[in-house]
Amino acid sequence: MIDCEGLVKIYKTDDLEVVALQGLNLRVEDGEMMAIIGNSGSGKSTLLNILGGLDRPSAGSVSVGGWDLLKITEEQLVEYKRDTVGFIWQNNARNLLPYLTALENVEMPMMLRGKLDRAYAKQLLEWVGLKERMHNKLQQLSGGEQQRVAIAISLSNRPKMLLADEPTGSVDTRTSDMIMDIFRRMNRELGITVVIVTHDLSLASKVDRVVAIRDGLTSTEFIKRNPNLDEEMAAGAGSLQQVHEAYVVVDRVGRLQVPKEYLSALGIKDKATIEFDGERIVILPPKSLEG
Ligand SMILES: Nc1ncnc2c1ncn2[C@@H]1O[C@H](COP(=O)(O)OP(=O)(O)OP(=O)(O)O)[C@@H](O)[C@H]1O
Ligand SMILES: [Mg+2]
Repeated sequence: MIDCEGLVKIYKTDDLEVVALQGLNLRVEDGEMMAIIGNSGSGKSTLLNILGGLDRPSAGSVSVGGWDLLKITEEQLVEYKRDTVGFIWQNNARNLLPYLTALENVEMPMMLRGKLDRAYAKQLLEWVGLKERMHNKLQQLSGGEQQRVAIAISLSNRPKMLLADEPTGSVDTRTSDMIMDIFRRMNRELGITVVIVTHDLSLASKVDRVVAIRDGLTSTEFIKRNPNLDEEMAAGAGSLQQVHEAYVVVDRVGRLQVPKEYLSALGIKDKATIEFDGERIVILPPKSLEG
C-alpha cells in the first residue's frame, strides 16, 4: 500500500531550512493496521501529510496504492485524495461544520463529490456508535463524539487507506478504546489499511505493528512486530532493532548534518578535519593544536 524510500521533506522559511524528514524508509502492506510513534517534532505529521497528499515531498520516493506522489500532477492529486485516502486530523474541529447535524456533516463531502448516499452516511454513523445522535448539531456533541463524526466523514468516500493523526489525543481512555475498536473493525471488515500517528505508547498493543520515528533530523526508523510490543516499548527504544540505514541530506550549499551519536563517539565538538581520499569523505576529530 505504502512504499517510502529515502523520503526527505525540507521546509524552507526565508533563509532557514528545517529538515523534517531525512531519508525515511517505510513499507506498509495492504490491509495492515499500524502505528507511527515518535516524540513531538519528529516528523510524524509531516509524513502523514505527505502520504495524504496534503503536502509535497522534497526528495526520495513515495508511492501509495500505485500512485507516485513525487510525480503526481495536481489533477491526479485531487483524484488520489478523493478515492484513495481518508484523513483524520489532530484537531478536527476546524474540519467540521458546527451548525449542521452529524448526518449533514457526513453527507457534505458526498454532495461535494456529487454522490449523496444517505443510507451509507447513516450506516457510517451507526458504525461509530452515533445512531441516536445523528440528528444533533455538531456543537451539541462532545469532543469524543465529534471525533467519531470525523471518522465517519473520513470513510464517506470508501477509501482504501485511513490516515489518522493523533486521533485519540484529546479524548479519555474509554473514548480512545472505542475509537481504536472502530479502526480495528474498519480494518478487519472492510480491509482498509490503517496508519495511526500517536505519541501514546499504550496504543501499541492495539495495532499489528509499530514504527518509531526518532529525531526528525536523523529520522532513523525502528521496527518491531507484535506481540509483546508493550514490554519492549517500555524497555526502551534501545531494545528495538534498527533495520534501515540512515541518510543525511546535503542542502544546496553543501551543508549536511552528522548524527549526534557519531560526533560524540569521536569526541567531536565544534571542529573537525575533513579529507577526501578520492572515494570517501573522511571526518575526523581535529589534531591537537598544541601537539
Ligand atoms: N510548515 C512548516 N514550516 C516549517 N517547519 C515546519 C513546518 N511543519 C513542520 N515543521 C517542522 O518540521 C518538524 C517536524 O514537524 P511535525 O509537525 O511533522 O512533527 P510531529 O512529529 O507531528 O510533532 P507533534 O507530535 O508535536 O505533532 C518540526 O521541527 C517542525 O517545526
Ligand atoms: Mg504532529
